[in-house]
Amino acid sequence: MDPSHATTGPVSHREPPRRLGQPNLGFGIGLRGAHFDTLWDHAESFDFLEILSENFMAFGGKPRAMLERAAATFPIVLHGVSLSIGGVAPPDEGYLRELFALIRAVRAPWFSDHLCFSSNFGVEYHDLLPLPFTEEAIELVAGRARELQERAGVPFLLENPSYYMRYADSALDEATFLREIVERADCGLLLDVNNVWVNACNHGYDPRAFIEALPLERVVQIHMAGHLVLPDVVIDTHGAPVIDEVLDLYAFTIARTGPVTTLLEWDHDIPTIEVMAAETDKIRAAAARGAEQGAASWRP
Ligand SMILES: [Fe+2]
Repeated sequence: MDPSHATTGPVSHREPPRRLGQPNLGFGIGLRGAHFDTLWDHAESFDFLEILSENFMAFGGKPRAMLERAAATFPIVLHGVSLSIGGVAPPDEGYLRELFALIRAVRAPWFSDHLCFSSNFGVEYHDLLPLPFTEEAIELVAGRARELQERAGVPFLLENPSYYMRYADSALDEATFLREIVERADCGLLLDVNNVWVNACNHGYDPRAFIEALPLERVVQIHMAGHLVLPDVVIDTHGAPVIDEVLDLYAFTIARTGPVTTLLEWDHDIPTIEVMAAETDKIRAAAARGAEQGAASWRP
């Protein structure tokens, strides 16, 4: 199926989206070692930074010094890859202690991780593994997300992951699964638009219909990224420019949500800060297109 297939027009909202009371931080990038020395000459190109939580936990030296400088200059949001919220074993308490300390240290307005499992009982799988779309998984993750958010004292966002296998016992569709979790947890959604595109290509669904089925009023942040197209599969690599079709899907999303904090993710073959700024400008332009298209429906 061609995932660029267009569907209906913008959805009307009778009231402005809540976004868990959080502000639109604008357009940002991840704080990466590759840019520690060059970011400062282009600081005006970015409105906020995201950090990979695990990169700064319990580290001192230059990374910590850069983080402190960044936190004095930009709003910082946290994004993790090791929470394993869907694992059989609960999240590690030592990990949570360090995570909460980092949230406080940079005064993060929110933090996020993936709807997946990545470890169990101390065994790391080094991958973000999908969950079955079942009532049992909803109950498990929603309960943990609710508790996590309460303990952290700031909103928690769950990200829709890319996934390359499906479970035979998934009883629900993915959008319903996501919706039920974030609504029962009363947490936010980090909508990765590239992941939607990648999954739509690999699993044969319409990405626009999928986005329209999500609880868009809970989207507090958006991720944009590049991917790799292989003969039999599309891989979410975060190692290439965002393609035009994903920019169009993002504009389609913004037409339905209004402006949302948006991050360009780039984790492999990281380009210069000048390229990051130029790619961020493409995302700004797509957001402006989407906002123009949707302004009549989401404006209060
Ligand atoms: Fe992402």
